[in-house]
Amino acid sequence: MVAPSMDVLVALCKRRGFIYPSSSVYGGLAGMYDYGPLGVELKNNLKNAWWQSMVHDRDDVDGLDSCIMMDQTVLKYSGHESTFTDPLVDCRECKMRMRADFIENNQCIGCKSTNLTEARDFNLMFSTSIGPIASSENKAYLRPETAQGIFMNFKNVLDSQSRKLPFGIAQIGKAFRNEITPRNFIFRVREFEQMELEFFVSPGDDESWHQYWIDTRYQWWQDQGLSPKRLTKAEQTADDLAHYAKRTVDLLYTFPHGPDEIEGIANRTDYDLGSHTKEQDQLNIQAKVSENQHATQRLAIKNLETNAWQVPYVIEPSCGVDRGLLAILSEAYEEEELENGSTRIVLKLKPHLAPIKVAVIPIAKNNEQILNMTQKILKILKAHIPGKILLENTGNIGKAYRRHDEIGTPFCVTIDFDTISAEDATHPGTLTIRDRDSMTQTRVSIADLVPTLIKMNTLPQDCPA
Ligand code: GAP
Repeated sequence: MVAPSMDVLVALCKRRGFIYPSSSVYGGLAGMYDYGPLGVELKNNLKNAWWQSMVHDRDDVDGLDSCIMMDQTVLKYSGHESTFTDPLVDCRECKMRMRADFIENNQCIGCKSTNLTEARDFNLMFSTSIGPIASSENKAYLRPETAQGIFMNFKNVLDSQSRKLPFGIAQIGKAFRNEITPRNFIFRVREFEQMELEFFVSPGDDESWHQYWIDTRYQWWQDQGLSPKRLTKAEQTADDLAHYAKRTVDLLYTFPHGPDEIEGIANRTDYDLGSHTKEQDQLNIQAKVSENQHATQRLAIKNLETNAWQVPYVIEPSCGVDRGLLAILSEAYEEEELENGSTRIVLKLKPHLAPIKVAVIPIAKNNEQILNMTQKILKILKAHIPGKILLENTGNIGKAYRRHDEIGTPFCVTIDFDTISAEDATHPGTLTIRDRDSMTQTRVSIADLVPTLIKMNTLPQDCPA
């Protein structure tokens, strides 16, 4: 199976209402995208699947939703002010700016000139100020990762939920990075969403928990439909490691532009809680953290056996929603040659991710009886199947099937004259269910519609049948 090109995916996303360039009426903003009616459904379904597996299915993880804007002190002591940089070079010929580590043979990405400046560090954080007058005292940052909001709330969650190690705090939310070279559609953007878990463990237990999360996350992406042939684990080298990490394993997906990171699973040691804690000298912190004069809390936990305070280690599986979505779209996209010589475009999305769960199609668009029956069927489906159920009343069944193949709707239900012809126990009305992947059509009675769809796995994976 050949992966689609990025151009093909971009065109499909625009044509069918998944993703549009942002501020496009005024020419667009580089590295920013808006999610349309189908994109937002797909994105919410992906986030719900993550939340289900990380928070609802587990007894050792709590959820959180912290602020996007953060006090500059947080990002100072987290190390982001001094180290969250990329090397930037300018082309003296065409004036293009680019990341030094993205160029090949010391040549400008645009005009291929080798007349480039020396690389200099460029901090990726967006800053702003809080209140009416901008000054250095009221400077704030848009968070570059959701993780720091979790560390800020470590003590709140620990105390309010009476947690003991090991336990985790999960969060989904926006993150912002002023990328020098946003590229590859929604792969590298300036505003994106992360799904992050900070899992706090006793020092010494960190390596086995790290391996557990690497394996768990590798399997989870496969459960979302990514093939193991296109999903690999890659150990970061010492040069690649972030300032806080002892070891990081990346999950790489083979995108249309090549294998690239979808998720990183890092052992952040006691770096973050240590950096944000007061009385660092009394707590035997292992990581080299900067001395924090402003911290007001001891972000530590009492070891019940030794009675000593200890700063937990943190294992962090961190992935991008947008990158996940790009991988899922890329994996699901297929072009099939049909017997009649035409080509069918189909998104073979897992049903729990599909933006539309069932499309209901009346065969005649102006027949009152058919339309009344269609409303009845819609009501039944909406009462039993979570997610978006769509009325598709265009009057052209062939076109409706093609559209729903392209947007990944697992099932189309067609209401025809047999549906309304008889509605008694001996001749119950029937309708057809058309399966997206096999294109087979099954005729069932109205009473059997929901049980059949459940059997055919229409429902989200966690919905009780
Ligand atoms: N808290 C750890 C952290 O933020 P990261 O590797 O910098 O680590 C985690 O980012 C994930 O966030 C990445 O694996 C990727 O999926 C996503 N991500 C990072 N930068 C991104 C960008 N500019 N555009 C889209 N997604 C991005």
